[in-house]
Amino acid sequence: MKRLLVIGIGAGDPDHLTMQAVKALNRVDVFFLMDKGPAKHALVDLRRAICERYIVDHTYRFIEAESPERQHGDLDYTRSVEALNRAKQATFERLIDEELSDGQCGGFLVWGDPSLYDSTVRILQAILDSGRCAFEFEVIPGISSVQALAARHKVPLNGIGGALEITTGRRLAKAQVGDGASVVVMLDAQDAYRQVSDPDTHIYWGAYVGTPDEILIAGRLGEVADDIERTRKAARQANGWIMDTYLLRKP
Ligand SMILES: C[S@@+](CC[C@H](N)C(=O)[O-])C[C@H]1O[C@@H](n2cnc3c(N)ncnc32)[C@H](O)[C@@H]1O
Repeated sequence: MKRLLVIGIGAGDPDHLTMQAVKALNRVDVFFLMDKGPAKHALVDLRRAICERYIVDHTYRFIEAESPERQHGDLDYTRSVEALNRAKQATFERLIDEELSDGQCGGFLVWGDPSLYDSTVRILQAILDSGRCAFEFEVIPGISSVQALAARHKVPLNGIGGALEITTGRRLAKAQVGDGASVVVMLDAQDAYRQVSDPDTHIYWGAYVGTPDEILIAGRLGEVADDIERTRKAARQANGWIMDTYLLRKP
């Protein structure tokens, strides 16, 4: 039987790896690295560096495959992500079929934690459900960007006994958020914090958290929103993209 390990590698700091993740890395014969284009080569490089640092006395190889892109045309967001996942599923099936022999172990190194805004587990389950490929898989949790952000700002995510909502910039921009006091926003391509009307809302913002490029800003939205917008724009210009997350806390 083929075996696959979906390993959470943390949000950018190689020290985020758990002992369980390190043990899992040392079982993998073939790592599948999904390349998301030139701007994101650094993310693939970090995965290679993690393997070099943590794997001892075990031979392994990397197989790089181009990650399919989400289409930004007429499709709505959910349908375009479903289409993307079908394309990824075809790529994963090919890799498992052609690059992994019976009895071998393959590894997917997932950014942060595999349970949060990542489709690897969903795709592997869909492949199993299709019956086209046979394998067993395990999921090894990682430190998500949400946990890393809270730690760097030294704040708890929820108020005492309160709820926490984790959502996307797209949903915040459309005011599709609950009325809880604590909201974490990820995947914000549109400065959605600008839509929050109460200037006393507190924001704990972080870009590239855990990496050498980390930037942290916190304060009343009314005071720091301009600074965050300027910083995001400059980071996008310098790096071609931005990876940021924030916690909003109502007053
Ligand atoms: C596709 S999701 C993957 C989330 C990941 N599975 C996790 O557990 O953090 C990508 C989003 O995660 C957030 N993110 C990931 N790494 C980050 C980091 N080091 N600093 C800030 N935000 C990060 C950003 O909101 C980014 O748009």
